[in-house]
Amino acid sequence: MTDNTRSSSDIFNNEDSNTTANPHIDQIMSARLNRRGLLLGGMGVAATSLFGAGALTGCATASTGAGAAAAMSAPLNTLGFTAVAKSLADKVVVPAGYNVQVIYALGDPLKGSTAAFKNDGTDTDWDNRAGDHHDGMEYFGLDANGKPSANGISRGLLAVNHEATTDEKLTSFFIHANGGTATLPRPASEVDKELAIHGLSVVEVAAQNGQWAYKAASNYNRRVTAMTEVLISGPAKGSEHLVTKFSPDATRARGTLNNCGTGKTPWGTFVSGEENWFGYFHRDAKDDDRRGKKDKQVAGLVRYGRKAGAASRHGWESAGSAEQYVRWNNGALATNARADYRNEMNTFGFVVEMDAYDGSQPVRKRTGLGRFAHESVSFARAVAGQPIVAYMGDDSRGEYMYKFVSAAKWDAADANASNRIAVGDKYLDKGTLFVASFKDDGTGTWIELSMNNPIVAANPDFEFKSDADVAIFTRLAADAVSATKMDRPEWGGINPRTGEFYMTLTNNSNRTVDGDMGADAANPRVYSDMKGSKENKGNVHGHIIRVAQANPADTAFKWDIYLFASEADADKSKVNLSNLTDENDMSAPDGLVFSDVTGLCWIQTDDGAYTDKTNCMMLAAIPGKLGDGSKKSLSYKRADGSEKRVDTYMGKSQSPDILKRFLVGPVDCEITGLCETPDGKAMFINIQHPGESSKMADVNNPAKYTSQWPANAGYGAGKRPRSATIVITKKDGGVIGT
Ligand code: FEO
Ligand code: CA
Ligand code: CA
Repeated sequence: MTDNTRSSSDIFNNEDSNTTANPHIDQIMSARLNRRGLLLGGMGVAATSLFGAGALTGCATASTGAGAAAAMSAPLNTLGFTAVAKSLADKVVVPAGYNVQVIYALGDPLKGSTAAFKNDGTDTDWDNRAGDHHDGMEYFGLDANGKPSANGISRGLLAVNHEATTDEKLTSFFIHANGGTATLPRPASEVDKELAIHGLSVVEVAAQNGQWAYKAASNYNRRVTAMTEVLISGPAKGSEHLVTKFSPDATRARGTLNNCGTGKTPWGTFVSGEENWFGYFHRDAKDDDRRGKKDKQVAGLVRYGRKAGAASRHGWESAGSAEQYVRWNNGALATNARADYRNEMNTFGFVVEMDAYDGSQPVRKRTGLGRFAHESVSFARAVAGQPIVAYMGDDSRGEYMYKFVSAAKWDAADANASNRIAVGDKYLDKGTLFVASFKDDGTGTWIELSMNNPIVAANPDFEFKSDADVAIFTRLAADAVSATKMDRPEWGGINPRTGEFYMTLTNNSNRTVDGDMGADAANPRVYSDMKGSKENKGNVHGHIIRVAQANPADTAFKWDIYLFASEADADKSKVNLSNLTDENDMSAPDGLVFSDVTGLCWIQTDDGAYTDKTNCMMLAAIPGKLGDGSKKSLSYKRADGSEKRVDTYMGKSQSPDILKRFLVGPVDCEITGLCETPDGKAMFINIQHPGESSKMADVNNPAKYTSQWPANAGYGAGKRPRSATIVITKKDGGVIGT
């Protein structure tokens, strides 16, 4: 969700709990380490020799198994389509020569026995329908016989995140006949539907004569909802902080929630990040007192956005005394954690892994990858004999970038394993989590977050007793080591041609010249932008940072800012630093996915700052490499007349030849999720929350909806707007973007 519009749901997104006054890591290191006489592995490594050629990508694993890599085309010198104009139309706009087709929308049946979707608020059987707010998505190929095959180009599975739902106050009004109940208590019948529209889905899709469709009766189709039993895996399994009435031994949990970005593992499974889950929980005003000041959970709850007295987004806890409702009350209400749900919120905030091909395997919460507002998971190219490395971001204002390095070394045979989830156990349950510290000189360090790091183990502000504690209270461990506060890390991606890691930093209204989130080299812009008569401040439009490492497992890195998002007519010396034009200007980059076929970088927006001029969009880029630009100095005048100078490193200036708008979505939507067939000829994209600022009072008055998409594109019954998956193909049958 964007930070610039203040829709009702934003109250529960992008929380703002990082109030730490992080000194620079060098200060804390010298203060603490000199005192203790301890040394950290990897700290202080000179960031030299970072660009050893083959070390960046290693060798692609030649394979036909589920985890095989696509074959890459020759590098492109220019983008092979005409840029689409900015658009406020209620439709999906793509370049001339391309087809766009809606194939899978909220409410679509996933079983042959489930009734067609009426889209009037009376539909039932939601456990067997597509969920809401389609977000991240990955493609898993099937061969002609329906068996897993990384080479499947005309038949496959889409694994889809269903992040959230469109609400104005409490109720998901478009799925209830008259909009539902916007007061407490919520009726159980409404809450049951809302629990089911969150989570994940797996849906089979196939092409016939160039037309794609989903298969409503496929045995592969699956739903995982906010109620589905899942397994806790990794260092936090069995932790006292995950004990609930449902699972007193802390090995199981229920559901996955607010799933935002995704990733695909080198062994062919789906991973998904739980993002703004905290907002679903209620704590009453007395909960801190009941827990007592010594309960470190209180610090944990506050750092993760749930102060005592916090209201929940949908009031699910109010719907009755049954388990599926009371679990959303996160208070310490009974005599101990085995008898209530005081720890329920701690079971969310992880990366979950699912084998899209095997519905018999429960979803795993991979706690080793840390607990925060997860977005996507970007796996560096797996290299035989080297650890698996995954890059991740925590999307809230001033949160951090993370990296996981597996203990196990990659065995290329694991790309073809039949028990894929067991391979996940091998690589994702044991390893080391790191957080990024960006230095002013264009280098940085990944700092270890574990009990091996004395700054974490001896942290005076929050007691870490074990690596399980680090996995659960990750943000507090990262605070302790003074990680760099970023402008809302969203999606990441690995450039398949260079191995460099790119991450969108979507915007940050809290970025100021000085203070806790004062401008720094990696987050250098503070400016104002007008939207009509409204002034937005901070880093309004966001940027994209990139990181290069000689070896992905190293602690040293180099960085630069690949792209500063901006409106084309903004000041080129302070805001439009990347020289964007009408063909490629944008605000709030969010989704970022590299094509393994073309090497193109696809950038998607979830914006509220430029939506007076254009709906959200997707652009294609030929991205270059770290160091292809120059140093840039920005100067800020303080109120007292003094100057603050911020030096940063930026990538080369942009032009429409190498960055161009490819798609604009319907009204009020976000563009998110991207995957493609292994030949690059069919691209799947999600259109999330079209019409989300429609008023609940108008739920039965379609003329007043801000969007009627995809009904107005000829898809499905009714006129209520629906999140949906589209597929894009080229009319000449070619590769997308070429
Ligand atoms: Fe769900 Fe941070 O976007
Ligand atoms: Ca503007
Ligand atoms: Ca996102």
